[in-house]
Amino acid sequence: MKIMVVGGGGREHAIIKKLKESDKVSKIYALPGNGGMAQDAECIAIGAKEIDKIRDFAINEKIDFAVVAPDDPLVLGAVDALEGAGIPCFGPKANAAIIEGSKVFSKNLMKKYNIPTAEYEVFSDLDAALKYLETAPIPTVIKADGLALGKGVIIAQTREEAMDAVRSMMEDRIFGDSGNNVVIEEFLTGPEVSVLSFTDGETVIPMVSSMDHKRAKDNDKGLNTGGMGTIAPNPYYTKAIAEECMEKIFRPTVDAMNKEGRTFKGCLYFGLMLTEKGPKVIEYNCRFGDPETQVVLPLLESDLFEIMQHTANGTLKDAEVKFANKSACCVVMASDGYPQKYDSGFEITMPADKNIYVAGAKLDGEKLLTAGGRVLGVTETGDTLKAAIDAAYTTVKSVKFDNAYYRNDIGQKALAALK
Ligand code: AMP
Ligand code: GLY
Repeated sequence: MKIMVVGGGGREHAIIKKLKESDKVSKIYALPGNGGMAQDAECIAIGAKEIDKIRDFAINEKIDFAVVAPDDPLVLGAVDALEGAGIPCFGPKANAAIIEGSKVFSKNLMKKYNIPTAEYEVFSDLDAALKYLETAPIPTVIKADGLALGKGVIIAQTREEAMDAVRSMMEDRIFGDSGNNVVIEEFLTGPEVSVLSFTDGETVIPMVSSMDHKRAKDNDKGLNTGGMGTIAPNPYYTKAIAEECMEKIFRPTVDAMNKEGRTFKGCLYFGLMLTEKGPKVIEYNCRFGDPETQVVLPLLESDLFEIMQHTANGTLKDAEVKFANKSACCVVMASDGYPQKYDSGFEITMPADKNIYVAGAKLDGEKLLTAGGRVLGVTETGDTLKAAIDAAYTTVKSVKFDNAYYRNDIGQKALAALK
């Protein structure tokens, strides 16, 4: 089978490496991919948002199956376009991807179907939002409605900060149309858990849980990033909590989407906070998480391609989805300065036989050069979380490029929780 994976980061590299393990997969194209994954897939210079070109490529190359990984093309209707051309896809159609594409949609969905989440108000008018903030409980959370490259959430510790955030979204329009509407919501506390799930709209199968590390610096200091590392499974996510989430969140969400005429097929990502009042949804994503995928898929023992085919066909109940009873740790190596200003173009040397997922690199002849903020993710698995963490950091030390920066404490919070 000829497979096409849309996207070009570490998540896509992890998906591609897993798909390669399937006997059914003979060829993989990545659109656009990146130089660091050229050994695993043929990279094609078509951007993930160029929907027409993606569809035409798939038709011309007689692609048998497409995986659309990032949020943008899903929200823009890549799956609708590909399926319309007769190409089976893993990923939701645009009318279901809205669960991530619009925070107003997802909050209203949760309210309508009694799915636990933070209390909230929606505003389309700046003055009304500012007036509300005069008396709102502080800290508070301001969210732009639409996609904002993962930067659309601001936790405001003071009233002034909250008002500035609303002004920057609604008046200065820093996220463009994504800030036409804003959600102002209750600040929740508790451990965070990411749960990715496979669903065909009928069956929902959660994958092994994970924990992201979003801040740039050790001890959760510094700016928010796209994710500096992950571990799996997440020790806070006990069997009892998993059962509660299935009953109160996962199943009801899949059913709610069906009732709205927006059947969700693909990977539905639940960003959860385990509050004193039980698990609540912080966010939905319509896709695999990055860098969660880089710890979840290495633990998958079943055939990813078969699971994706079952998901697309609506026969997920017949799929075998089995995870190893082990742990995984992914340490992201970034360019120093990320998520702000950084230099790139430095040569990368790394061992060839390791699970290293390349996010931001390009080929220059034979040389691999850094070409992004997050450059790569080093994943190791182990029988215990501690073994996985130690192994990941050992491999990190064998990867070299000028300007490399990484957190030294990925997994430490989880280790402490185990004690
Ligand atoms: P996001 O950009 O949607 O991934 O959100 C970034 C982070 O903001 C989340 O991982 C949480 O840590 C935090 N966050 C979002 N909503 C809330 C909330 N209602 N209360 C507390 N923290 C939140
Ligand atoms: N790691 C969070 C996300 O993929 O949105």
